[in-house]
Parts: sequence; C-alpha cells; structure tokens
Amino acid sequence: MKALVLSGGAGTRLRPFSYSMPKQLIPIANRPVLAHVMDNLRVLGITEIGIVVGERAHEIHAALGDGSELGVRITYIQQDAPRGLAHCVAIAREFLGDDDFVMYLGDNMLPGGIADVAEDFARRRPAAQVLVHKVADPRAFGVAEVDARGRVTALVEKPREPRSDLALIGVYFFTAAVHRAVDAIGPSRRGELEITDALQWLVEHGREVHAHVHSGYWKDTGRVEDVLECNREVLDALKPYLGGEVDAESELIGPVVVEDGARVVRSRIVGPAIIGGGSLVEDSHIGPHTSLGRDCAIISAEVGYSIALDGASVHHARIQSSLIGRSAAVTRAPENLHRLVVGDHTRVEVAAR
Ligand code: TTP
Repeated sequence: MKALVLSGGAGTRLRPFSYSMPKQLIPIANRPVLAHVMDNLRVLGITEIGIVVGERAHEIHAALGDGSELGVRITYIQQDAPRGLAHCVAIAREFLGDDDFVMYLGDNMLPGGIADVAEDFARRRPAAQVLVHKVADPRAFGVAEVDARGRVTALVEKPREPRSDLALIGVYFFTAAVHRAVDAIGPSRRGELEITDALQWLVEHGREVHAHVHSGYWKDTGRVEDVLECNREVLDALKPYLGGEVDAESELIGPVVVEDGARVVRSRIVGPAIIGGGSLVEDSHIGPHTSLGRDCAIISAEVGYSIALDGASVHHARIQSSLIGRSAAVTRAPENLHRLVVGDHTRVEVAAR
C-alpha cells in the first residue's frame, strides 16, 4: 500500500499564515501537521509516500526532505494549481501505479491514528473506503448517504439540503479502480475535479464504496480556531520533560515541556504547555494549552490557549486564544491606545474600553 498526501491547495481560510507558509506546516504541539500525518502512515507500515505540493513546494521539501529522517521515501508531485482532490489522484497516476493507496489530506489531524480504518479496508477490500464523521452542520462538507451495512449509496459535495449527517473526512482508501472513475469525471461547477464525483461514479457503476464511521477526534486545521482547538487536544496527551533551565522563583504546574535551551525565569507555567528550545519566558504566566516555538521571548506577559511560532515575542501584554506568526512582535503601546501594523487578511480583536 502507498500513500498520497495532499499538501497543495490555496489555504485561503488560514490567511495571513498561508501567505508565508504552507498550512500543512503549522505546528500542533510544536510539530508540523504533516509530521503528525507521517506518524499515522508509518504506523501502518507505509513507506512509499507521494506528496502533492503546490506553489509552496520548496518549504515542504525543506521540512521533510526525502523522508529518510522519518523512515519513509517521499516522492514530490507538483500540482500547477489547486484543481481538486481528484486532480491530485490523476497527476499521481505514475507514482501510484496499480497499487492500493490511502489518500490523506495534509491538513487533517487524527491524533488517535487510522490503524482501525486500514484494517477494515484490508479485510473488506471494497473499491474504495471513505472515513465519515457525524457533524452538526454537514452543508460545508462532502456528505455520504450510507445504508445499514455501511455501503455508500450516494455522495454529494456541500449539499444545500443534506440527507445525511455523515461528513467525509480527509482520509480515503482506494484500490486501482479509482483511476477509471477519475478519468471519467469532468470539473464541477466550482471548476475542480471532485473526489466525491469520482466516488459517486464508482457507486453508480456498481462498485462498493464502504463508509467507516470515525468516532475519535478529528480536525481539519483549515482555520485558526481549528488549529488552536487541535493544539489543545494534542497537548492534553503531553508528557512532561525538563530540558531547559527553570529558576527557583518559577513554578511549573501540570504537564509542561521545557525544551533543551529554553529558559524560564520568575514565571508560572500551567500545563499542558510547551516552551520551545531557545525561548525565554521571564516574569510571565504561560498556559494552559499553549505552545511556544523556538526562540520566542515572552517578557512580563500572560499567554494562554495560544500558539506562538518560532521567533515570536510578547512584551507587557495579556494574550488569549491567539496564533502569533513567525518573528511577530506583540508589545505595549507607548500611550493608552492600540497601535497596529497589521498584514493583509489579518484579524485583530482588541479589548473593549
Ligand atoms: P482544502 O482545505 O479543501 O482547500 P485549500 O487548501 O485550498 O483551503 P481553503 O479552503 O482554505 O482555501 O484542501 C484540503 C487539502 O488538500 C489541503 O491539505 C490542501 C490539499 N489540496 C491539494 O493539494 N490540491 C488541491 O487541488 C486541493 C483543492 C487541495
């Protein structure tokens, strides 16, 4: 079995971060989403991994290389523009050959792994197997209509009036039967080759598409709120580690990781929380559910339920529910007003007066 990990796309929902980095490299518990994806694939014994990349190919390449450090072999497959999930299968045809494969959206997090789904697929070996999750509002998703035996009877992309609450989530298992389906379909109204159309083609041609209901945690990290919530979920399983320096006037409560080379001075850290290597936390409160990347500086500040990327700094400010970009600085204004230098498509919420 091979894997096809989709890491192109536009990432419009995760602006402004997606202007300067591929969203699949956003850190969850200080590791890129793609590293978590690779963990789940390696557990299945999959070592041949194709990664579809878009215009930020070089950054994904710099982060993962040829995969040898992760114990896998990565083949990069360049997509010229985000033309849809089924287009990704089409351009990966040579890499995939006639092997079974798992297609995994590179921004999806399933911290409990996918071993049970893979076993289910290997046992039944339908033409395709989708992973579905009950959602409150299916209108934003591809939706599967499923019979009592778990066989998919219809698939609809973002239905206005959904006939099922089972949303497709970002992990699909395919046999080589999918290639005929992908070749047969045309672009949808939004101009993309939809994987739901390919699956629907299989259903209409009498091929079995099985739905595996996933009841564990799942998150599409497409928006800032989702990234923070997923970070909380993954941090909840954090194992404490003390590599850096914590002075006698500081207090660590609950599971806290202080990475090698980090310094905590006269501060209180409430876990789960991670202080990245080379970061300095001084006269501050951090946590819970907070992760600081490498070389951050948090001075006389409070940071809770947040993620700070590498090199970010917060001085004399109280921050909650925030995602702070690489080398971004949050500081106290000289007067009692807000002074902002805000990039395109950035959202800032300031405390009411
Ligand atoms: P989406 O999150 O559906 O699309 P997107 O990345 O364009 O994001 P947004 O809606 O915020 O603009 O894509 C799911 C995953 O599949 C994501 O990791 C990007 C990847 N993808 C590709 O690699 N190629 C494509 O053509 C598309 C549509 C997505």
